[in-house]
Amino acid sequence: MTVLDLASGTGTLAIIIKRKFPDVDVVGVDGDPRILQIAKAKSESANVKIEFDQGLATQLPYADSSYDRVFSTLFFHHLGHSDKARAFAEIFRVLKPGGQLHVADWGKPTNFLMRLLFYPIQWLDGFANTKDNVEGQLPNIIQHSGFNDVQIDKQFSTVFGTLTLYRALKDE
Ligand SMILES: C[S@@+](CC[C@H](N)C(=O)[O-])C[C@H]1O[C@@H](n2cnc3c(N)ncnc32)[C@H](O)[C@@H]1O
Repeated sequence: MTVLDLASGTGTLAIIIKRKFPDVDVVGVDGDPRILQIAKAKSESANVKIEFDQGLATQLPYADSSYDRVFSTLFFHHLGHSDKARAFAEIFRVLKPGGQLHVADWGKPTNFLMRLLFYPIQWLDGFANTKDNVEGQLPNIIQHSGFNDVQIDKQFSTVFGTLTLYRALKDE
């Protein structure tokens, strides 16, 4: 199985996946070359073999149907609406038929307190970029990119608001 961690940052999730599933080929991609240097150093210290590539979510440097799974954590709220749609379309393109997308990101607040706690994140990361998240639009955007069976797996109440786990399937 081949797995992509999109906007992999310092490689935390990629390293966890590779440690847990040593036979899986794990690739991390991120737009920031400095972050990738940290990710490479961390994976070397952890003694796991992970490929880290520089690339943008809206223009992934991979062929069609390359991956069985794409994961992404705490990333989509950094993108404006059109880039979110472009990035999900790119994920759909690089996934193999039958492949799955798993996203963890800020979602629609589950109560008034969660809504209030999310304001600092919106202030820091931008009200325009976080609008779709807070309005619960991520599943719709994912579905419009071609995915089926778009589901919310779990919602966590955190000190920064509601963290939501989404999953979606690229049909065979
Ligand atoms: C908040 S960090 C999350 C990192 C990691 N996924 C995690 O959960 O720790 C967001 C990451 O997205 C990357 N990023 C921002 N815009 C990007 C883009 N358009 N394409 C690829 N990576 C991008 C940043 O360089 C950064 O590493």
